[in-house]
Amino acid sequence: MANKIKKKSAKTAKNVAIIMDGNGRWAMSNSLNISKGHSKGVEVVRDIVEESVIQKLSSLTLYAFSSENWSRPKVEIDAIKKLVIIAINEQVPDLVKQKVRLKFFGNIDNFGAKILSKIKDAENATNHEESVLNLNVALGYGGRQDIVNVTKYISEQIISKNINIDDIDEDLISKFSCCPEDEIDLLIRTGGDKRISNFLLYQIAYTEINFIDKYWPDFKKGDFVECLDNFKKVSRRFGKRI
Ligand code: IPE
Ligand code: IPE
Ligand code: MG
Repeated sequence: MANKIKKKSAKTAKNVAIIMDGNGRWAMSNSLNISKGHSKGVEVVRDIVEESVIQKLSSLTLYAFSSENWSRPKVEIDAIKKLVIIAINEQVPDLVKQKVRLKFFGNIDNFGAKILSKIKDAENATNHEESVLNLNVALGYGGRQDIVNVTKYISEQIISKNINIDDIDEDLISKFSCCPEDEIDLLIRTGGDKRISNFLLYQIAYTEINFIDKYWPDFKKGDFVECLDNFKKVSRRFGKRI
């Protein structure tokens, strides 16, 4: 069977994803309330988006809240919900100026009508005809749930005879996934843990992964540039003998 993994072996990382982990531990190590860790984390997002534009990335895909994060204390979830609104209010005007296209993906409905409408407005405001960067934010996202949803959707399409079984291929699965990017060149996880925590399971088949010990609120533009520079040195073989 032909290997359908795409082999766009760019020398520089164009599609980057980040698991922004460590807000809680950063707050605790600074004797601060956990919500302060999350708000400091939102400030870092602004810096990393700025640098992504400078570095001419095609996309930056951020893991902001996982499907499993719903099991956190209500007080923390409420603080994060408030922060989503604050972050949109504070950062969308700059995204408009910078021509960055913002998109949220995941099970966003669970965040309620107010946040949903705020998100739609933000997406509409940044829906530039020509954008310099796609900024994708995963909210209430789970990689396994995404695969389950794609499977259900494709099954429905077959039952209603819109597609045939032979139409199912890797591109079709990518197309129906809620993640706007088909594949990721570089995935960075801050916070020191070496795991994926249900992030982009399908899209990271051949992704380079950088695990960074710093907590997300301490992650600086220079750390980001270092990750991008390290990527340039990697030999991506995609299974081939080269
Ligand atoms: C990541 O930081 C942000 C979210 C999961 C919302 P954490 O809150 O998980 O920070 P740590 O891992 O507890 O330090
Ligand atoms: C992953 O971090 C989710 C986000 C950064 C949004 P978690 O803190 O939820 O992951 P685990 O629990 O350490 O695996
Ligand atoms: Mg964590």
